[in-house]
Amino acid sequence: MLEHTGRTFQTRTSYLRETMEDRELDWRSKPAAYKFYTYVPVISLPKPLPMPEGEPDPGLWDSIAKRRSVRSYAAAPLTLLELSRLLWAGTGVTASFGQDFYRAAPSAGALYPIETYVVVNRVESLEPGLYHYRVAGVDILERPIVEGSHSLEQLRVGDLGPAIAAAALDQPMCRKAAAVFVWSAVFARSVWKYRDRAYRYFYLDAGHIAAQVSLAAVSLGLGSCPVAAYFDEEANALLELDGESESVVYMTSVGRPSRPFGGTGRVDLHHTSRPKE
Ligand SMILES: Cc1cc2nc3c(=O)[nH]c(=O)nc-3n(C[C@H](O)[C@H](O)[C@H](O)COP(=O)(O)O)c2cc1C
Repeated sequence: MLEHTGRTFQTRTSYLRETMEDRELDWRSKPAAYKFYTYVPVISLPKPLPMPEGEPDPGLWDSIAKRRSVRSYAAAPLTLLELSRLLWAGTGVTASFGQDFYRAAPSAGALYPIETYVVVNRVESLEPGLYHYRVAGVDILERPIVEGSHSLEQLRVGDLGPAIAAAALDQPMCRKAAAVFVWSAVFARSVWKYRDRAYRYFYLDAGHIAAQVSLAAVSLGLGSCPVAAYFDEEANALLELDGESESVVYMTSVGRPSRPFGGTGRVDLHHTSRPKE
């Protein structure tokens, strides 16, 4: 049954030369490109760049060579600057041309359907809890502006480590990690243009973002592990998402590795009996 569903998805979202239609976009119904939480505390993040003089930076090639999924973490917290850099590497704004803001990771049609939430377990200067990344500020006409960009909206305060670990198929690393990035897709943003095909793009977009965060983590000397094994309803409930218009699509745990890692050194294995990706 499951295999059949996956196969049907692949077929139904295929582009075929014979049936490909030329369709005008309805610009009046274009969904809002940004999500904001109002009436919540907003925390400005330190600028991710430039890297301070003398800070060790292994460079791209070393980071690629060293990246491994790291599942056991030391108790030491992340700094706010480290979290800022990880957020920026994933969904931060890196260029703007007039009203068009472009981000670190590529996105189909530059529609940016992926929202970033962070479950903070241990980050300096942040209370543990749930945060949402405010990519850009908006003016009264809901146009993106630099002011207010790259900040965190504090949605809930409290120890959510056990809840995110439980939602992630009881994977203890999510409780032990300093932070867990949780990415959701706002479906309407891409369905507006790509219809059913958009459902491929949500996961591709999220994959690009996660890959950039994982390499950024290595370059900061941090460990991370992608997590796609989670109970959808529980993950959505934690973020108060309805699962219909917006749903969790991917996660990544991040923290200081409990032992040195890199490249060929075998560091971490799955330690639950559940099937993992
Ligand atoms: C889409 C995807 C989902 C994954 N989900 C999990 C997960 O839920 N739990 C986990 O421990 N590892 C997860 N992983 C990590 C893989 O197990 C890991 O990438 C793989 O074993 C290769 O090891 P490496 O990342 O160290 O190269 C996931 C990786 C991907 C790409």
